[in-house]
Amino acid sequence: MKLGIIGCGAIGTDVAIAADCMNGIETLYLFDKDPAAAQRVASRCKKAKVTRSVEEFLPEVMVVFEAASQEAVSQYGELVLAAGRDLIIMSIGSLFDPRLLKRLEDTARERHCRIYLPSGAVCGIDGIFAASMAQLDNVTLVTTKPPESLGIQVDKRTVIFEGNARDAVKQFPKNINVAACLSLAGLGFDKTHVEIVADPVSTRIDHRILAHGQFGRLRAEVENMPNPQNPKSSYMASLSAIAALHKILNPIQII
Ligand SMILES: NC(=O)c1ccc[n+]([C@@H]2O[C@H](COP(=O)([O-])OP(=O)(O)OC[C@H]3O[C@@H](n4cnc5c(N)ncnc54)[C@H](O)[C@@H]3O)[C@@H](O)[C@H]2O)c1
Repeated sequence: MKLGIIGCGAIGTDVAIAADCMNGIETLYLFDKDPAAAQRVASRCKKAKVTRSVEEFLPEVMVVFEAASQEAVSQYGELVLAAGRDLIIMSIGSLFDPRLLKRLEDTARERHCRIYLPSGAVCGIDGIFAASMAQLDNVTLVTTKPPESLGIQVDKRTVIFEGNARDAVKQFPKNINVAACLSLAGLGFDKTHVEIVADPVSTRIDHRILAHGQFGRLRAEVENMPNPQNPKSSYMASLSAIAALHKILNPIQII
């Protein structure tokens, strides 16, 4: 399989290096609005080629992996799907815009291709999705981060946001993709409750999901190590993206 990557930052780099070692991947095409970033990643891979645009690699690839920004999803999402290519989206926060979500969904349906949303930095999405097949009453995400990872300074544990996932994603677009993924798996952006906490004592990025419904109760917690290349990202986000590629390539699916 030939893979196109949009965004060669922390996650794009981890995924490119992992994909470069996968037997099922023949060629990797790398695009970043900063050509030096794509070049840096290419220099660490054997199968990678740098391209000047998404349009340049689109006819070649089967799957496109986005790890750039919300803006990149609106810029390239439809283009990729209209070309009949599957799309893996990491900037899931972009999908809080219902018009963009519908356009992408409709295009994927028309062109018989898929949009994959890796579970990212959070664990328990599988349980929430399964639980949503029956009555799901409440889903809450509590995200606790070191203040610097939120770009602020506080001297004690401070709740900096409490509200629904739609507002969380709008106010913290770079930090709260997990809220978007959780919403899409469960109760939607308006009914998923989110708390974001800045804690100067914490060294990890902690996501806790609490839910109850007809299935019973769910509590899932992960304490994430920051990505060494970008302290705002959790390393687990890169791993979930790499796992998504494995799923696409392998006949056995853990779903
Ligand atoms: N789903 C999750 O759980 C999860 C977790 C962490 C990060 N993310 C999201 O994934 C994305 C990538 O994260 P990262 O930590 O690798 O970020 P990063 O800042 O390290 O890298 C992003 C790269 O994308 C490039 N880029 C940005 N906009 C672009 C565009 N329009 N066209 C082409 N290139 C563009 C930048 O130049 C940069 O090199 C971000 O949107 C982030 O919010 C999702």
